[in-house]
Amino acid sequence: MSVLTGLESFVRQSEPLAMHTWFQLGGPAEYFAEPETVEQLVTLVGRCHEEGVAMRMLGQGSNILVRDEGVPGMVIHLSAPAFCNIRIQGRSLIAGGGALLGRAVTTAVHRGLAGLETLIGIPGTVGGALHGNAGTRSGNIGQWTLEATVMAANGEIYQRSSDELVFDYRQSSIDDLVILDVSCPLEEDNPHELAQRMQKQWIVKKASQPMGHQSAGCVFKNPRGSSAGELIDDAGLKGTRIGGAVVSDRHANFIIAEPECTAQDVLRLIDLVRSQVRDRMGTELELELEIW
Ligand code: EPU
Repeated sequence: MSVLTGLESFVRQSEPLAMHTWFQLGGPAEYFAEPETVEQLVTLVGRCHEEGVAMRMLGQGSNILVRDEGVPGMVIHLSAPAFCNIRIQGRSLIAGGGALLGRAVTTAVHRGLAGLETLIGIPGTVGGALHGNAGTRSGNIGQWTLEATVMAANGEIYQRSSDELVFDYRQSSIDDLVILDVSCPLEEDNPHELAQRMQKQWIVKKASQPMGHQSAGCVFKNPRGSSAGELIDDAGLKGTRIGGAVVSDRHANFIIAEPECTAQDVLRLIDLVRSQVRDRMGTELELELEIW
């Protein structure tokens, strides 16, 4: 029996990952799965666990850089409707791990539920957002999350409640393989005022960050008490280029991939920025972007 036996209807081999990421760079996944149901996901994870096949969860690909040589093992994409449901129950928003964060935010706002509107404009899925505790200066998803249903790498499903969920700047205590759904208790507010606050936040974001380019959000985490973008800018690195990878002129913590860019160009530019900021500013930058 091969790893794929019986799973052929939702697993492909040698799937190019570039088209699944915001950078649109990098090589293929050895295996790529888009299960349609939780049962299929349980079977898939169980099989990979037994066969010792490494698994990775792909959200919307907005915070990862895939190396040019691609990734070994199984990449799992929760794109099927079974994983993308968003509903309101009382004052809580319940969202599937595969749902788009932007849709979750606007659903809450339109129903007059406040809390998540500060997250408008953050790309990616709800699962990806919770995994890295995505947020802005005004708030993060973790502070609004009470419960999460997760699947461990052995296929077991667990409920993680608030006392087990610890969030910090761009990190969460959830180390389970899959985030199946999250529950966020929110606060009632005037839908009209909420929508206005959301729009304002969106305008500020659009003005300060590059949009409509091939990039993947902030590359580095902000060091405690300072801003990676400001440090890179002060080091004089805006516009620095390696191959097709360029440090954004608009916000220095973004790297733009121009046509012909390779993942290797981005990796080399990351190393350059890091070493120049270390030498010129005396600060060691830590990656926010995940490298696959
Ligand atoms: N700045 C510069 N030059 C630059 C960029 C920024 O001098 O090229 C200065 C700004 O003028 C400002 C300070 O740095 O005084 C902070 O900049 P900004 O308000 O843009 O916030 P940031 O700390 O760079 C963080 C998050 C963003 C989030 C914004 C807005 C991180 C690494 N970044 O950026 O999140 O959108 O706040 O809330 O935490 C992400 O995580 O991917 C991301 C984009």
